[in-house]
Amino acid sequence: MKEKWWHDLIGYQIYPKSFQDSNADGIGDIPGIIKRLDYLSDLGVSMLWVCPVYRSPMMDNGYDISDYTQIDPMFGTNDDLKRLIDEAKKRGIVVIMDLVINHTSSEHPWFQEACKDPEGEFGKYYILRKGKNGQPPNNWRSLFGGSAWEKIGGSEYYYLHLFTVGQPDLNWENPKLRESLYDMINGWLKMGIGGFRIDAIAHIKKDLSGGNLPSDGVDGLSSGMEYFRNVEGIEDYLKELKERTFDRYGCYTLAEVDDIPEERMEAYIGEDGYYSTVFDFCHCFHNCMDEKWKGKERQMLIDIRDRVFERQKKMEGKGFFCNYLENHDMIRIPDRYLPKEKQNFYSLSMLPVLYFFLSGIPMVYQGQEIGMSDYAREHIEDYVDLATHNNYEGLLAKGMTKEQALYEINRTSRENARTPMQWDDGGYAGFSDVKPWFPLNPDFTKVNVERQKQDPKSLLAFYQKVIALRKNCLYKKNWIYGGFTVLEAESDHLWCFMRRMDGQKLQVLVNISDECVSTKECYDGKVLLNNYDSVSQKAGCLCLQPYQALVLFAEN
Ligand code: GLC
Repeated sequence: MKEKWWHDLIGYQIYPKSFQDSNADGIGDIPGIIKRLDYLSDLGVSMLWVCPVYRSPMMDNGYDISDYTQIDPMFGTNDDLKRLIDEAKKRGIVVIMDLVINHTSSEHPWFQEACKDPEGEFGKYYILRKGKNGQPPNNWRSLFGGSAWEKIGGSEYYYLHLFTVGQPDLNWENPKLRESLYDMINGWLKMGIGGFRIDAIAHIKKDLSGGNLPSDGVDGLSSGMEYFRNVEGIEDYLKELKERTFDRYGCYTLAEVDDIPEERMEAYIGEDGYYSTVFDFCHCFHNCMDEKWKGKERQMLIDIRDRVFERQKKMEGKGFFCNYLENHDMIRIPDRYLPKEKQNFYSLSMLPVLYFFLSGIPMVYQGQEIGMSDYAREHIEDYVDLATHNNYEGLLAKGMTKEQALYEINRTSRENARTPMQWDDGGYAGFSDVKPWFPLNPDFTKVNVERQKQDPKSLLAFYQKVIALRKNCLYKKNWIYGGFTVLEAESDHLWCFMRRMDGQKLQVLVNISDECVSTKECYDGKVLLNNYDSVSQKAGCLCLQPYQALVLFAEN
């Protein structure tokens, strides 16, 4: 693989509303991020992905943009963003922004014009269709629940919204629309951002040739996914997008694309792919509280291991995934992978070791490094997220009681990951001087950055070590370009692999269970990382303690 400037990035995702408030309005903002840059630099990350900060009515917390060119006053100003870019650069950190180009906000002037005159110029910017016999054009379900179509008042037209009603889908078939988007993208790249995380891009092409689909739920609707995700022909748009924007600046791109058909993988993230990297979703749908995995979280992690390793082998030497465990769309990782009673320093510290040393760009989500976790709400009103409320309604419609539905929401709502960052044990956890927009997890008095900073054996300190090892110039090349070999393949307790390059072997050995487990093979070498104080061995084999995570170095 040709070396590229972004190959060694280590990412950190910021959900701005919940990261750091600087002006006492209870909402995080860009000056707040600037204030915390030294913290991020000490942690060791080299890329920040900042979730949307553009002007927005915040129906989906900024993923509904009403002006692509302006920062929302809630988050600061365009000058603040410039300052963030410059200050981050001084610390060796590049800033990438979210790029939301599958849809806009319904308050975007383009959409306002489209509503006034659906058959006019801006009507062609969106996906508008006439209804059929007083019904929407088809029975697709929105990804966030309910019909994917909404009527434009006073007209015969409906508009498509794959997400909330406040997020009308753009019509990529229209070259004029595409030009407007390219201009906007190039404007931000000119300003100096390092690239983009590209939102929902798999959905920009729709196949609207058919009518209603057989219903797959009590609502009479149908998921319709294959008609609006990775639809044949999307490549033409992706190629053009890349050539007209990203390529011109050599920027880094990270796309949210689920379920890419295998034969298209190289076209997406190969040497000259549409994107630098894509997120790998293969571990996202596992939850140890699901019926299937209850009491079987070890087996669940083994299932994930096999999927992850298979993807590593397939992409070896060809391209990179972005590897991560958490983001703003899922519950926190401790609660997804471990029952509460098994969450402790050892189990939490083995988690980054599972993915940081794989081939790809590692990403940490804010708060993951201190072990932020979920907590159960007592009322559905304690959630703000529209998608969460739609899901709740859907569960009630399926016949669940309010208690059952709330239980389900508590263990699955993405809003769990959006509680304010826990900086210290003061009033509002150092996040803000006033009541935050969204309640803090009450455990902030125990789980917070300040406390962990003082403790060399904290989770935060361990993440620092993991990141430092990933960046260590003695091994960095191997972590990035080294070959990948599965170790202890037969084990159903261990997650082990080797990276090998230029006579150097780096072995990553993790016990994902709460029992002591011996390796089958013998291992020797220098210990580069260990979440315990010692390593025990018997006749050359390692006896790994519950959740022990080790990295060993040896010469070939
Ligand atoms: C992506 C974002 C999610 C958002 C959706 C619609 O999946 O990650 O937060 O709600 O797109 O823009």
